[in-house]
Amino acid sequence: MANHDQALAQLSDHVRKTAMLESINSLLNWDERTYMPELAGPYRAEQITWVSAMLHERKTDARLADWLNDLADHPACADPHSDIATTIREVRREFDKQNKLPQRLVEELARYSVTGQQAWVEARRDNDFGKLRPFLEKIVALKREQAEAVGYKQHPYDALLDDYEPNATTAEVKQTLSELRSELVPLVQAIRESKQTPPVEILHALYPTSAQEEFGKQAAAAIGFDFHRGRLDVTHHPFCTEMGPHDCRITTRYDEHFFSSAFFGILHEAGHGLYELGRRPEEYGMPTGQYVSLGIHESQSRLWENQVGRSQAFWQHFFPLAKQQFPAALGKVKQDDFFFAINEVKPSLIRVEADEATYNLHIIIRFELEQALIVGDLAVADLPQAWNDKYREYLGVVPPNDADGVLQDIHWPAALFGYFPTYSLGNLYAAQFFEQADQDLGGLASLISRGEFAPLLKWLQDKIHRYGRCFSPAELVERATAKPLSHEPLIRHLRGKLAPLYQL
Ligand code: CO
Repeated sequence: MANHDQALAQLSDHVRKTAMLESINSLLNWDERTYMPELAGPYRAEQITWVSAMLHERKTDARLADWLNDLADHPACADPHSDIATTIREVRREFDKQNKLPQRLVEELARYSVTGQQAWVEARRDNDFGKLRPFLEKIVALKREQAEAVGYKQHPYDALLDDYEPNATTAEVKQTLSELRSELVPLVQAIRESKQTPPVEILHALYPTSAQEEFGKQAAAAIGFDFHRGRLDVTHHPFCTEMGPHDCRITTRYDEHFFSSAFFGILHEAGHGLYELGRRPEEYGMPTGQYVSLGIHESQSRLWENQVGRSQAFWQHFFPLAKQQFPAALGKVKQDDFFFAINEVKPSLIRVEADEATYNLHIIIRFELEQALIVGDLAVADLPQAWNDKYREYLGVVPPNDADGVLQDIHWPAALFGYFPTYSLGNLYAAQFFEQADQDLGGLASLISRGEFAPLLKWLQDKIHRYGRCFSPAELVERATAKPLSHEPLIRHLRGKLAPLYQL
């Protein structure tokens, strides 16, 4: 018993200090992307490289194996969801994974992801897939090697998916996403054929940056983002990061001639932030205080951005405030027209600009292609053609060139395979959680239309945030909604909103 207590204390101390070092790395990275002066770059890169090396050393420290062995028969493991069992299980999981990868493979992957991204910048600039191709071929080979080294039950892609969505299987995700696809393709097709067109010019009037910032902060604070525990700053590529239990940084970018980009971006990142700040502060750094998966993280951002932020109820509360903030742009605009404009559905080529409905088709295309690359059914050389074929089939649009097609995302050149589906999983979880919260709380629309967001946030904290990694994503969904993940809530959400707007 004494042995258990001592091993647990030592392991916890080690893990918490590793997290502290990680949070210092986050601060260095956040500063680099927000306020760092241009010429500080090279030294900053050295700082980050050194901290990363220290982190790797701590995560593969041989003492971890000793402590884990001492803890293997800890009585708390009888309840696999207890804090202690979660700590032991998740530290072991991470440690085993790190140790299964040969050092040479880790280094090659790190090197090729850097050179791959550099090649990608040039290939995209010159609209020349050939410049990326040899790097991508190497990266795909390395990712296959990684899958073999880590091991998998059914599909090599399982091993890669597991890095971002622990315990999810390719077969399950494939099933859910193909059901989603078979409903989405005709829905998007019906919208294309609709005579109704949203008055999107409303969103392209002049929206002064300072008013956008004030309004965005007002909305973020209203949904529960605590500005005493977080900040909003400006970056080119918006993100959310944390660097302590009470320190969450979100960022956005402003376009004076497009309302949606900053506003919904802020709601999205604030949603990520609410998940960061909603976990138990005293568990910070431990698996019990960590986010459980990228899909669950994305579900929290999408829920606030889409289920809440693009709803009629939300704008019943916020539209009068928006009119005060932007009298020139919105003074004479009707709420219904504004509502239709922010819910426009239009098949397009670029994923990051896609709307709520077509977005998932962009993801499904990438998910299908990357699986085929990993199992060897598709050669990298044939990727641009396969990409264009799927865009024609699912979205009815064909990229005029590879820069706006297969070269648009940084993920594959950065060696991120298995990452894309977490975006759609996030949308699916969001819809299923929101539907359940709506039932449990007796109708969210009336609460939201009065600007009352606290009950929904509390529901999310109680059902999801507070558990950290105590439950897997699938277990969280089952516990919160009493059903396995399904495509149906998202389809109901989209149809419910879009059918009246487009008169389907
Ligand atoms: Co996100």
